[in-house]
Amino acid sequence: MKPLRIALTKGRLEKDTVALLEKIGLDCEAVKNKGRKLILPVGSGQYEVVLAKAADVITYVEHGVCDLGVVGKDTITEYGGSYYEVLDLGFGRCRFAVAAPKGADFWSGYSAKTIATKYPNIARSFFESRGMDVRIIKIEGSVELAPLLGLSDAIVDIVETGSTLKENGLEVVETICNISARLIVNTAGLKLRKQEIEQLLDQLERANQQ
Ligand code: PRP
Repeated sequence: MKPLRIALTKGRLEKDTVALLEKIGLDCEAVKNKGRKLILPVGSGQYEVVLAKAADVITYVEHGVCDLGVVGKDTITEYGGSYYEVLDLGFGRCRFAVAAPKGADFWSGYSAKTIATKYPNIARSFFESRGMDVRIIKIEGSVELAPLLGLSDAIVDIVETGSTLKENGLEVVETICNISARLIVNTAGLKLRKQEIEQLLDQLERANQQ
């Protein structure tokens, strides 16, 4: 049987995912000493980890080239797609928030505000739910720059410790929702390799509760 492939979000969620895999007794040495390799064996041949950017984790799982994926709820909410979201892994906890320059009264005034974000869908649906007409500008990273440069009135972004906002003179004006890492599964894969996947889910769930 070929190994079950798990797509893992590089960076922020990587360390906690490896720690969880080790907690269920899987050898993760190859991932820890990965160098520039992108596909690595985990355990004793039963799993393979694929290191990818968050949005690509969804793409690989959706298309079935990876059986499972570990990705943030932020990416799931922004990109959607068809797969099963089966487990809240409990780590990677942060929140989505609207943040604006400290002291600026973001909610006042009647003119349409400009919002910079890496997550245009989430930003759009949040402001729509408020009945607020906003202009959204997509930024790829370090979104905090946009209001500092005068491009936007506020940002919609992930806040974890809050230090990026603080160090750049911004503050949260409203929390949109909480986020954490989730385990996703390819829909066909869950039927075809049901037993193996359910066994892994079971182990992960139990390890998480300890
Ligand atoms: C995220 C987010 C904030 C920062 C928040 O960016 O976009 O910039 O982390 O974290 P904090 O509240 O702990 O300061 P990330 O580091 O993922 O980099 P990016 O902006 O280049 O995407």
